[in-house]
Amino acid sequence: MKNEILETKDGLFTVTVMVNGEKKELPVRNSESLLDALRRHGWKGTKKGCDTGDCGSCTVILNGRPVLGCLTPAVTAHNGEITTIEGLGSVHEPHPLQEAFVEAGAVQCGFCIPGMILSSKHLLDNNPMPTEAEIRKALDGNLCRCTGYVKQVEAVKKAAAKMARGRKK
Ligand code: FES
Ligand code: FES
Repeated sequence: MKNEILETKDGLFTVTVMVNGEKKELPVRNSESLLDALRRHGWKGTKKGCDTGDCGSCTVILNGRPVLGCLTPAVTAHNGEITTIEGLGSVHEPHPLQEAFVEAGAVQCGFCIPGMILSSKHLLDNNPMPTEAEIRKALDGNLCRCTGYVKQVEAVKKAAAKMARGRKK
């Protein structure tokens, strides 16, 4: 059974969420975005770029779909499941997408990469062997000010091949 959202005395709301597979109770402000709430509670891999829904750097997966954290009120994530970049892999055990982005030279400053990787993960979870057009469509909301949107596409193809070889996590 789902929990009711609780309002605490100081005007905060306690949202119950699964973040990267762990149950958390997060106090959030009524007006706070999911992006700000995640960052304030330590998931700083979720990047704050424009804060107006234009750049995609704040992308996280909420209940199986990529969402823009800056446009998603944190209270609406109550009882939801969230995946942030921290949930994919680690330096010692990277996700195939993380490996592929590095191997393809798709990372320059890195600011856009968490959002790009989460959009790519959603794509590959639903379409394990996408065409180039499908990859470009999946990434069209993720802006990058450093690169030419070529190596990221190569990276997603590379990750799809790695995952097809049985490295899927
Ligand atoms: S920070 Fe959310 S879209 Fe740019
Ligand atoms: S690598 Fe710098 S914004 Fe994309």
